[in-house]
Amino acid sequence: MNVSFAKPATPTAGALAVTVAAGGTLGTTGKTVDDATGGALTRAMAAGRFAGKREETLTILAPHGLELSRIVLIGLGKAEQVDALTLQAVGGVAAAALEKAGDAGAAIALDLPEGLSLSPADAAAEVAYGARLRGYRFDKYRTREAKDQKPTLTDLTVQTGAPEEAAAAFAPRGAVAEAVAFTRDLVSEPANVIYPETLANACVGLSAFGVSVQVLDLPALQKLGMGALLGVAQGSAREPRVVVMRWDGAPGAEDKRPLAFVGKGVTFDTGGISIKPAAGMEDMKWDMGGSATVIGLMRALAARKARVNAVGIVGLVENMPSGTAQRPGDVVTSLSGQTIEVINTDAEGRLVLADCLWYAKETFTPRLIVDLATLTGAIMVALGTEYAGLFANDDALAAGLAAAGTAVGEPLWRMPMGDAYDKEINSDIADMKNTGAGRNGGSITAAQFLKRFVGDVPWAHLDIAGMAWTKKDSATVPKGASGFGVRLLDRFVADRYETA
Ligand code: BES
Ligand code: MN
Ligand code: ZN
Repeated sequence: MNVSFAKPATPTAGALAVTVAAGGTLGTTGKTVDDATGGALTRAMAAGRFAGKREETLTILAPHGLELSRIVLIGLGKAEQVDALTLQAVGGVAAAALEKAGDAGAAIALDLPEGLSLSPADAAAEVAYGARLRGYRFDKYRTREAKDQKPTLTDLTVQTGAPEEAAAAFAPRGAVAEAVAFTRDLVSEPANVIYPETLANACVGLSAFGVSVQVLDLPALQKLGMGALLGVAQGSAREPRVVVMRWDGAPGAEDKRPLAFVGKGVTFDTGGISIKPAAGMEDMKWDMGGSATVIGLMRALAARKARVNAVGIVGLVENMPSGTAQRPGDVVTSLSGQTIEVINTDAEGRLVLADCLWYAKETFTPRLIVDLATLTGAIMVALGTEYAGLFANDDALAAGLAAAGTAVGEPLWRMPMGDAYDKEINSDIADMKNTGAGRNGGSITAAQFLKRFVGDVPWAHLDIAGMAWTKKDSATVPKGASGFGVRLLDRFVADRYETA
């Protein structure tokens, strides 16, 4: 779907979407169209009990008096609450309503409330951004899709008084939307297509955006001594990889130390010898979601030429049961030198991250580390699928991440940490074990484990197990791979580290 901007005008063909504030009060375009159709909008709103609520839609087909296929009214909600996320939702809801309706072209007219804090150009850019995010599809493996299930919409025009300004405002958002789509593609791909080697190849592709990419292969990982990560990988016929992606965009003489982002990239998690039940195991193709978010983030930062130095590190392994797989009770030596008793081979993500976190700290002396991982089922027990879990050893970092999450609609909920939880992972025969005493507090004991590999570096861990994949559509995220975290971290970087 191509999204562009143009001056307001009533189109003479295709579809027209018009925004309507709560209470069903029509704005300038709404009134013009209502008059041109002999009051069809007013009557349809009454007949359809349309109240202009946020994300509410009402379609009027073949309106009398205009050569349009349809008019779609889109609710804005309460005028005083309209913000960037509302406008993204308008674009998203419009894209969803028009995508398969039959038209190739559509326009969105923005009747916006007075006193809006965004400029008209920014408002139009947010609408286009929302449309792009929602317009995502993963359909490469569908060879026989019914004609009426295929999208028809190819051109969406957002109407604004300042089309050139809007296009300029949209450029960085468009780069982020494409990065989100890239992350969603990686997560959607099955594990016979995306495995450590091929996911590493996808990282190498980021060099087209100016990212420098280094791939550490099996001999390199052995030489380094990443025993925790290698223990997970040893049961698979697919060799592991660790990929380091660097974007150096900081100008001038400021702090050159990078921000570090670390991702769990378990391309398939069977559980290993502590094997998972069959039901739902197919979901474990998205156990590389944390790494896909880090990869997408690096693409976004590079594509919009972010004025920051950042490094992305992803640990890519497949967790399989086999004659070479690690056993429960095995003791491995991590890159840090700390030894780990592997109680449960299904608690593999923390083993992979342990070595990547230590590597990040030792190699880059980063200003901070944020890791992302589909780490525990327990985080879904705690938070459902509405918030990702946030764990941190630094209050300012936690607050900054939470604020960015709220701003982009990817909310985080901070979870507790502390010595009492940390004690639970002490082992009788090694420095630590990879699970807590029982299932209680499972997301927290996992975070405590990670904390033992970050030293004094300000660090935050996002447990995105409940967020990487969604079973229902929302305004800007179609069901499936969400790309959760790309927008959040891009915003975090932009608001706190690019202000110079
Ligand atoms: N990848 C899983 C966590 C997960 C579960 C993500 C469901 C998404 C959906 C992780 O590797 C895992 O298996 N965790 C175990 C830890 C346990 C063995 C201590 C879990 O959560 O059950
Ligand atoms: Mn697991
Ligand atoms: Zn896992």
